[in-house]
Amino acid sequence: MTTNYDPIAEQYQRSKQQPWRTFVECFTLMNLVGDTRGMAVLDVACGEGFYTRMIRQRGAARVTGVDLSHGMIDLARAQEARYQLGIEYIVADARELPNTGQFDLAVAAYLLNYARTSNELQAMCHGIARSLKSGGRFVTVNCNPAMIFSVAPSYRKYGFETNVEGPWQEGAPIKWTFHLSDGPFDIENYHLDVALHEEAFRKAGFREVRWHAPQLSSEALMEKDQDFWSTLLEYPPMTFIECFK
Ligand SMILES: C[S@@+](CC[C@H](N)C(=O)[O-])C[C@H]1O[C@@H](n2cnc3c(N)ncnc32)[C@H](O)[C@@H]1O
Repeated sequence: MTTNYDPIAEQYQRSKQQPWRTFVECFTLMNLVGDTRGMAVLDVACGEGFYTRMIRQRGAARVTGVDLSHGMIDLARAQEARYQLGIEYIVADARELPNTGQFDLAVAAYLLNYARTSNELQAMCHGIARSLKSGGRFVTVNCNPAMIFSVAPSYRKYGFETNVEGPWQEGAPIKWTFHLSDGPFDIENYHLDVALHEEAFRKAGFREVRWHAPQLSSEALMEKDQDFWSTLLEYPPMTFIECFK
């Protein structure tokens, strides 16, 4: 089990190919991200740059990716060397976000669920809010703080499982096991509830917060029927949040 992505960077990259990622996660997140043409965009916890590249390819003028993991940033830079998109990648901790300029939009896919305490969550939200211009927006997909993972259903048919050992409380670890063709790997997130998120957003200076449920793309139904997707949509392990500065 790990929060260190260096040893699992390549496996995590491959987990992005699972159909739920494309038809639910990516579809919903990119709908919320919207039109980024001409914008300066910061991708925090960018990993190997999956969304960072997508945002740049959709016309953002300047895109910067930040991640704590050298292994993830190495993969991101390798792709940058290959595709020359003009993205800058920085190794940094989102709890102490360096000053990388002012952005129109900040994106974070699965960052806030690495905060183990409300102080860590607050530090992440402050750094992100500080990086945004006035009127800027923060869009994130995250392990769902409203889901009680100790009683969550099985998501095995989508290619992953979640598991909680020990009491369900603030900071409780949530293990995600991803099943790939060559075997499983684990990552660990932490639970902080919806109220703590709301408080952290407001204290960081966001004036409005909107929570969004996952959406299913029409292509998803060509792949599998509605019944297949129902567990993921009715008991969503991830949520989407939009914050306005
Ligand atoms: C689940 S991965 C998501 C990567 C990428 N956003 C994506 O969707 O493909 C979570 C990422 O968060 C990064 N991370 C965790 N804690 C962090 C922190 N405090 N600061 C910056 N990055 C962090 C990890 O290194 C990892 O790359």
